[in-house]
Amino acid sequence: MEHATTPIAGQTPGTSGLRKKTRIFMAPHFLENFTQSIFDAIGGGAGKRFVLGGDGRFFNAQAIQSIIAMAQANGAAEVIIGRGGLLSTPAASHLIRSRGADGGFILSASHNPGGIEADFGLKYNGANGGPAPEAVTQKMAATSAGLTRYYKADGADVDLDTIGTTTRGQMQITVVDPVADYAALMESLFDFDAIAALFAGGFTMCFDAMHAVTGPYAHAILEQRLGARAGTVINGTPLEDFGGGHPDPNPVWAHELMARMSSPDAPDFGAASDGDGDRNMIVGRGAYVTPSDSLAVLAAGAHLAPAYAGGIAGIARSMPTSAAADRVAKALGVEMFETPTGWKFFGSLLDAGRVTICGEESAGTGSDHVREKDGLWAVLLWLNILAVRKLSVAELMADHWARFGRDHYARLDFEEVPSEAAHAMLADLGARIPTLAGTRVEGMQITAADVFAYTDPVDGAQSANQGWRIWFEGGSRAVLRLSGTGTQGATVRLYLEQYRPPDAAGSVEAAQVLAPLRAAVLALCDFQKHLGRTTPDVTT
Ligand code: G1P
Ligand code: ZN
Repeated sequence: MEHATTPIAGQTPGTSGLRKKTRIFMAPHFLENFTQSIFDAIGGGAGKRFVLGGDGRFFNAQAIQSIIAMAQANGAAEVIIGRGGLLSTPAASHLIRSRGADGGFILSASHNPGGIEADFGLKYNGANGGPAPEAVTQKMAATSAGLTRYYKADGADVDLDTIGTTTRGQMQITVVDPVADYAALMESLFDFDAIAALFAGGFTMCFDAMHAVTGPYAHAILEQRLGARAGTVINGTPLEDFGGGHPDPNPVWAHELMARMSSPDAPDFGAASDGDGDRNMIVGRGAYVTPSDSLAVLAAGAHLAPAYAGGIAGIARSMPTSAAADRVAKALGVEMFETPTGWKFFGSLLDAGRVTICGEESAGTGSDHVREKDGLWAVLLWLNILAVRKLSVAELMADHWARFGRDHYARLDFEEVPSEAAHAMLADLGARIPTLAGTRVEGMQITAADVFAYTDPVDGAQSANQGWRIWFEGGSRAVLRLSGTGTQGATVRLYLEQYRPPDAAGSVEAAQVLAPLRAAVLALCDFQKHLGRTTPDVTT
């Protein structure tokens, strides 16, 4: 049935689909307009097959019912839905690929809080299982700006809780177990016997599902298939508001896990995942692993897992991610790529077989098994490596740094700053970028500066203005960029890194190593003048 509508402002997808306050998504026609813009941008829904699911946050089930009705009215042939409307982002990516679907709708605002006063989101992934490329998201935005109608069928809600197939008009509705296919995929990649033997030998673990979507996946894989003791998975029941927390796996938000890992009876291994299951945090007994280091460790040890035993084709990392993985690529003699922030840029490299392992500093790592980052995949590869090498997390990190040296790293987030202030600060910096090389700030010499632009090596697609980079003497680097996933004001991210070779004297904390660089950049950009503060909300 055709419904008349008028365009709604602000339907421009960011780094990872469209994220807004839940109430905005719930406003009349908002979800429908954006969904119709997706159908229009992909050339219509007629005869197509779509995967559909979300992270279970507030409004998930209602949004799914609307999208089912719209898929039907847009002529779709089939929608494949996770039972209860649940699908983790990597599981959705896998289903799109394994079922040969044309694409998928994933309902999530990732690690942002959920609830009627919190955040909601919708992203569209294409037939390769990965986030829609920029050309398509730009089409969505352009379509929504001129939208005058959408198509939505009438009818009662579909039963999402019973596995099986029903029909609505021309469309088949297939409800599947959200975990089964994904768990089988994991079993095909990793040495489950070795990991099970590790657990049988007394190895202990705590996995914090943060009341988000990975609970059912972690229970099934870690406890039921691999034999980790009951209670290994904490906060394992998905809740609409994630128990009131931020389902963001970092030391700040996963504080329950961090506390356990530094307690006297800490388990051997700790991990957490985010709202939709694509991010991960890794922590050993008293040893937090930065995501940039985790990417490097996984790339260096991937050959220990059956799926990667033949070696990896190459590695890709987002630009703000530290250079730790670059050192591994060099040692392995494989290609290394530096892409803009956001998983979509890895897709073409993965599709072309140029890279096998990808990662971002924001706790995302993954491989060519799907076209999304994958939290549990990273956890399982860590377990596989630990099972083979028989080292603790701290020992494995020490071993890695002794071989490659260490990239000390920090990301500082200044959240919910007035948009104009953030833009003014960065415009000011941008204007000075061409003349920064050779100047000094706070006693530190700037050696180079640029605005990051990227040309996709496979399809030639260009992306400009992907962040500001400043290099200093001694090899340290600072990056500034604006978040593309916030829902309120602007978020300025400042990324700092400094390499120390294996033979550098003494062990030092990242904060100490990075202090001069931090002071230099805060002064260079004048955070105090523009944002009224020099202290970030979150440091990871
Ligand atoms: C953030 C992360 C980025 C990640 C994205 C989606 O985007 O920084 O690495 O790809 O979330 O999970 P940002 O808010 O920085 O644009
Ligand atoms: Zn996520």
